[in-house]
Amino acid sequence: MPPRARCLSFAFAVLALSAGRASAQTADTAAQRSVLSGAYNAAQAKAGEAVFTRICAQCHVTVQFSDANFQRAWAGRTARDLFELIRTQMPQDNPGGLRREEYAAVLAYIFQLNGYPPGESALPAADAALRHVRIDPKPGSTP
Ligand code: HEC
Repeated sequence: MPPRARCLSFAFAVLALSAGRASAQTADTAAQRSVLSGAYNAAQAKAGEAVFTRICAQCHVTVQFSDANFQRAWAGRTARDLFELIRTQMPQDNPGGLRREEYAAVLAYIFQLNGYPPGESALPAADAALRHVRIDPKPGSTP
């Protein structure tokens, strides 16, 4: 390869790299939607409360999902992490036994228990969208 061509291909490689980085950054920014700015809606949380009362409350109390331990375990992670844990392991006597929408509703209820504000739209049940919702520490909680 003549030196000039080599230099050009190097320039293209650098360009391609920085373009890749720029689009990765855009994706990361999109990934950062916080539970502090309305990640579920009130109707969904109400539906989730019904599911919780009917199923989860057989073995759990609500405070377990909003206390300091809960915050320590989940703040900083994504809604997808918690959704997947619940979906694949709960209810313990029937893991995966609910519809994805029901799991999403329970998660919305859990967010409400933590004092996260409701918003316009429901928490999505799709993996890719849940990955974009970040669980931030609830206001006033100590890390
Ligand atoms: C038949 C009993 C039973 C039912 C029903 C049940 N769970 Fe559980 N769950 C358990 C047990 C036992 C554990 C493990 C010990 C613990 O952490 O309490 C657990 C653990 C969990 C954990 C992990 C806690 C942590 O911090 O690691 C979550 C989250 C959870 N359950 C959510 C739910 C939700 C939401 C429902 C309703 C959809 C549900 N569970 C229904 C028994 C149950």
